[in-house]
Amino acid sequence: MKSYIGTPTSRVDGRAKVTGAAQYAGEFNVPGLAYGSVVASTIPKGRIARIDASKALAVEGVINVFTHENRPSMAGTDRAYMDDVAPGGSPFRPLYDDKIRFNGQPIALVVAEEWEVAEFAASLVRVEYRAEEFVTDLHAQLDEAFVVDKPERPRGNAEKAYAAAAVRHEAEYFIPIEHHNPMELFAATVVWNRNGKLTVHDKTQGVQNVQRYICGVFGLEPDDVQVVSPFVGGAFGSGLRPQYEVVLAVLAAQALKRSVRLVLTRAQMYGLGYRPATIERVALGAKAGGTLDAITQEAIAMTSQYEEFSRNDTAWSEMLYKSANVKYVHKLTRLDVPTPADMRAPGATTGVFALECAMDELAVALKIDPMELRLRCYSDREQSHDVPFTSKQLRECYRQGAEAFGWNQRNPEPRSMRDGSDLVGWGMATGIWEALQMPTAARIVLTANGHAEVSCATSDIGTGTYTIMAQVAADMLGLSIDNITVKLGDSTLPQAQVEGGSWTAASVAHAIAAAADEIRKELLALARKIPGSPLANVQEDDVRLADGMIVSKSDASRAASIADAMRHSALDRIEHEKSAEFADDSKHARNTHSAIFAEVKVDEPLDVIRVTRIVDAVAAGRILNTKTAHSQVLGSVVWGIGMALHEETLVDHTFGRIMNANIAEYHVPVNADVQDIKVIFVDEPDDIVNPLGIKGVGEIGIVGVAAAIANAVYHATGKRVRDLPITLDKLQR
Ligand code: MOS
Repeated sequence: MKSYIGTPTSRVDGRAKVTGAAQYAGEFNVPGLAYGSVVASTIPKGRIARIDASKALAVEGVINVFTHENRPSMAGTDRAYMDDVAPGGSPFRPLYDDKIRFNGQPIALVVAEEWEVAEFAASLVRVEYRAEEFVTDLHAQLDEAFVVDKPERPRGNAEKAYAAAAVRHEAEYFIPIEHHNPMELFAATVVWNRNGKLTVHDKTQGVQNVQRYICGVFGLEPDDVQVVSPFVGGAFGSGLRPQYEVVLAVLAAQALKRSVRLVLTRAQMYGLGYRPATIERVALGAKAGGTLDAITQEAIAMTSQYEEFSRNDTAWSEMLYKSANVKYVHKLTRLDVPTPADMRAPGATTGVFALECAMDELAVALKIDPMELRLRCYSDREQSHDVPFTSKQLRECYRQGAEAFGWNQRNPEPRSMRDGSDLVGWGMATGIWEALQMPTAARIVLTANGHAEVSCATSDIGTGTYTIMAQVAADMLGLSIDNITVKLGDSTLPQAQVEGGSWTAASVAHAIAAAADEIRKELLALARKIPGSPLANVQEDDVRLADGMIVSKSDASRAASIADAMRHSALDRIEHEKSAEFADDSKHARNTHSAIFAEVKVDEPLDVIRVTRIVDAVAAGRILNTKTAHSQVLGSVVWGIGMALHEETLVDHTFGRIMNANIAEYHVPVNADVQDIKVIFVDEPDDIVNPLGIKGVGEIGIVGVAAAIANAVYHATGKRVRDLPITLDKLQR
C-alpha cells in the first residue's frame, strides 16, 4: 500500500489552477450582476463636510452611490465589528459616519451596470473635507509610545549584566511599512438569492470568520449568509480579518436586492493592513568566549488611532539563546493610518531580523564565527519558561545548512572575498516560529464504491491544504489519492479557524485522522456482521484500512473489503464528522527552527546587490508533503529577499499619503532577483507536539532571511546597513 504522507505529492488542485477552472472571488458570474467601485479619501484625518454624487448619478448605467449619508442600517456597536482575530480597540466601520481615520479610507461606493461605468462615475464624486491635524510618521511620535508587551517572568538584571559585560553591542534597527501584494486583488461577489439569502464569494483566509462578521454587521442570521472561498490567490495575513470590500458588496446587494461584485484596485489595496514600521533596539552583552550575559530588546511599532495591533517581536530574543539576564519590551505608538495587519510570521520576521543582525555584529566584535557564536549560545530548553521543546533540531539545521552552503570556506574578513569586480559576502542567521494547532473539525463521507469526500471550512491560500488533506485522508482510509475529493473554503462545512499562524496543516490533518478513525470503527462493526466474518474476533485496535480493505494488523489474511462490509448492511455511504482535540501542554515549548545562509555579490563601482545563493535548512517536524512544503519555504525566502533589498511603503508625511501604492514603485523581487535557493528539511521526529508530529511550514521560511542577507552585505562591503531595505544609496552614504 502506497503511503502519501511525507511524499512529494503534486497539488490535487493544480490542474484546476493552470486550466483556469479554479474560480476566484471576483470571477463568479451570475445574471444581473452589478459592479461596484470605491471612492477613497484623499486626506488622512478629518470629517467629510460635503459629498456630492450628483454627477456620478447622472452617468447612464449608474444604479446608486452609497455614502455614510444614505447607507442602509448597520450595527452600531464595536462588538458587532469584532472578527475572530481582531486586535483590541474599536474596529473600523466602512461608510459608517463622516469621520476620516486614514488616507485611502473608503467613503463612497458607486454601483453601476458595468464595471467601467462604475469606475468612471467614481471619479466624478466630489468630496469636501474638514481636514484636521494628523501624524503618520512613527519617528515623530516616539514620545507617545505605550507598552503592550513585557516578559511574564523577567530574568535577572539585564542592565547591570550588560554594563558589566566584557564585549557589548548595541544598535537600533528599522523595518519600514511593507504592504501585501498578493496576485489576486481583494474582491467579493455577493449573490443575492430570490429568498433574500446571500452567497458571498470573498477573498479571505477564513470563511466562517467573514460569515460571523457579516451577520454581526448587518444583523443577519447564520442561515442567511453562506461565505465561500474555494481558491485564494495569495493572502499570508492580509485575508485573516474581513476586509471592507465584503462589507460594501453585501451592503449594496442588500440595498439593491441584486447581486454585486466589488474588486479593489491595486492602489486601494494599500488602504488595507500592512506590516507595521518598527524600530528595534537590541543590546547584547557577552563574555569574551562568546556566551551571552545579557539580551535586551525594545520594539516600537505603529498602530492606528482606533485599534492596538501588535505581534510578538521581542520575546523571541528571550527564548532563542541562553542568557541569564534578559529584558524586553514592546511598545506601540498611534498614528493616523489604517490598523496594521499580520504578514507572514508577524513579529518574528521583524524582531528576529534585529536580533540576528545584532548577533552578527556581536560575532564581529568577539572575533568569533557567527555560526559558532550561535552554537555557544544554543539552548536545549526554551529559556523563558525553562521547559524542553517537543523537538528542536536547530543544531542539525546549522550543520546541514553550513555543509550545503560551504560555510567553512568563509574568510571572516569583510571585503576579503571577490568574484571578478564583485565583492562576495556570506552571512547567516537563525529562524524561529511557533508550532500551533487549533480546534478544527473534518467530515468524511465514504461511499461503497471506495470514494471519500473530505471536508472542512478551512481555506487553502495556495499553501497546499487541498493536497495535504487528500494525502492524510488517503493514508488513513487506505484509499488511492485519486479516490479522495476535498471540499474546503465554505462556511457551511465543519468548523475551522482562519488559515494562519502555520497551524492549518497540523489542525486539519488531525481532524481528518479523527474522522477517519470513526469510519474505521464503523467499517469494522459492519465487517463483523458479515456471516463467518474473518474479522469477527479481531480487536478494534488491531484493525487498519489499507487498499480498500479492513485488515487485521497482526494477521493480514484476516480482511474484508470496504465494499463488502457496506453492501452487506445495505449502506451506500457512511459519514463521520469529528473534531481534533489537542491537549494543553505547558510542559513543552512548540517551535520550528531554521538556519539560513546567504551569499550576496555586490558590484563594487555601482553597489548593486544581488542575492546569488541561499540555503535555508528547516526543522519543522514531519513534513507532510515535501513538494508543497519546499514551495512554501522557497516562496518565503523570495519574500525575505524582498524584505532585505526591495520592499518599502513610502509615505509622504506632509500629506499623510502613500506615494508608491502600486507594484511598479513598491518593489518586490522579480525573476532576475531570484537565483539559487536550496531548501533542506532536517529530519525532526516529534511524538509530543501531536500524534502525527506535524509543526507547519507556512511561515518559518521567511524568518531570519533578511538578517542573513544583511549580514552577507556587511561581510561583502564592510558596511552595516540597519534600516531596511538595503538599497544601494545606503551603501554609499
Ligand atoms: Mo499568516 S500572517 O497567520 O497568514
